[in-house]
Amino acid sequence: MIEFTPNVQKGSDPLYIQLYKSIRLEIQKGHLPAHTKLPSQRQLAKHLNVSRNTVDIAYQQLSAEGYVKGIERKGLFVVPLNQDLFFPEPKQGIFRTEETSATVTPARFNFRYGEVDLEHFPYKQWRKYTLESIHRENGDLFLYGDHQGEIGLRKEIAHYIYQSRGVRCLPEQIVVGAGTQYLIELLCKLIGTKDSYAMEDPGYNRIRETFQHAGVSLSPIPLNDQGIRVDKLYESNANVVYVTPSHQFPTGVLMPLSRRNELLEWAKNVDGYIIEDDYDGEFRYVGLPIPALQGIDHHEHVIYLGTFAKSLTPAARISYAVLPQRLLSHYSENFTHLQQTVSRFHQYTLECFMESGDWWRHLNRTKTRYKSRQQTLLRALKTHMPDLHVSGNDSGLHVIVEPNLPLSEEELIRRAESLGVAVYPTSIYYANEKPATSQVLLGFAGLSEETIEEGIQMLKKAWYHS
Ligand SMILES: Cc1ncc(COP(=O)(O)O)c(C=O)c1O
Repeated sequence: MIEFTPNVQKGSDPLYIQLYKSIRLEIQKGHLPAHTKLPSQRQLAKHLNVSRNTVDIAYQQLSAEGYVKGIERKGLFVVPLNQDLFFPEPKQGIFRTEETSATVTPARFNFRYGEVDLEHFPYKQWRKYTLESIHRENGDLFLYGDHQGEIGLRKEIAHYIYQSRGVRCLPEQIVVGAGTQYLIELLCKLIGTKDSYAMEDPGYNRIRETFQHAGVSLSPIPLNDQGIRVDKLYESNANVVYVTPSHQFPTGVLMPLSRRNELLEWAKNVDGYIIEDDYDGEFRYVGLPIPALQGIDHHEHVIYLGTFAKSLTPAARISYAVLPQRLLSHYSENFTHLQQTVSRFHQYTLECFMESGDWWRHLNRTKTRYKSRQQTLLRALKTHMPDLHVSGNDSGLHVIVEPNLPLSEEELIRRAESLGVAVYPTSIYYANEKPATSQVLLGFAGLSEETIEEGIQMLKKAWYHS
């Protein structure tokens, strides 16, 4: 009796190859266990309606590779094999998947930083421009594009950051890239890995790690209520510094003009660079917008970084750097071999979105919405937990809270989690010093006002049992 039916079809590989591969796979998977007798050539040929010659060649090949062995006058038998060699079980612990919004079971009240308002995303317009990008007339977009980014998009960005952030630049100075971390890596190569780098402490952990992986020496510089301490920067002997002057991340400190001038003076004295990360500079809800540091730099020391991760969506992976002229010539001479990392379709979509005016409408609505969400959050915290200390009110999309309880950061997070509230650590942002009291970070951009209100009431229960 023939107990298996190898998969052979006319039209693809020669039949003997298909037959040989099919039996080999059955043996490797263990479906034809050791010592199983294969059907005779005549039987199998008849069963499959193929010639005996086809079966003969397939059997010869299996025999030559040691999958089967002939025993005189008895037939062909499967040889014992170690199946693990063919289909090894994946080893536990080798593959570490990072926790992202896609992999984590969402908490009912998730105060995760980095979310955006998905309910009001301009889906219709984004879809329209995306479809336009996949048109025959835009055939060019299917090919490699400008290594610096589409010139049309760079013109839109230059116009936008001038109007909104006071950044003065030509589109030719802009380099588009897939994320701020990618751009930081590029800057390390451009500036050089032998230079001495510094960054704010606390500061964004992913950027710190990016510098570390780039192999540069990195000094953590403490802050005070005006932002990075320039006296400590001098002491560090660094000549490149990464800062977040609009909203220091994560403390939310806004760097006043006096400190900005001190910092620019430092850059001039050491003939160095200031990497200004203006990641959520758009989201300032009180007073007038504070222009970017780049706009008041007259000596080509500031490299400005911007991103659409907060103002649009992090999924588009569209960020950009504005290079001062002296770095730009080095880039143009030595780095044009690097292809652009952002899809041309996405770049084109964003360009149309910005050009049409949909961008400004989206931005204004988003600002209004995030402002009300922030106000709701601050109000709810004040009403339900009046003893709790809130800082970072000037941050665009998150606040930091210290509940003044004798509990560790871990315990605060665990208790909140037990009632379905996700709050996040701040200790990961510290390189040297740690926060004096336990605190956690609450992002609010992705939550409706009702959810914020309910979530804070639940947090009160988790922390104060009332
Ligand atoms: C300080 C800081 N810079 C930049 C970004 C954005 O990075 P990207 O442009 O890679 O999305 C973030 C996002 O959370 C951030 O916190």
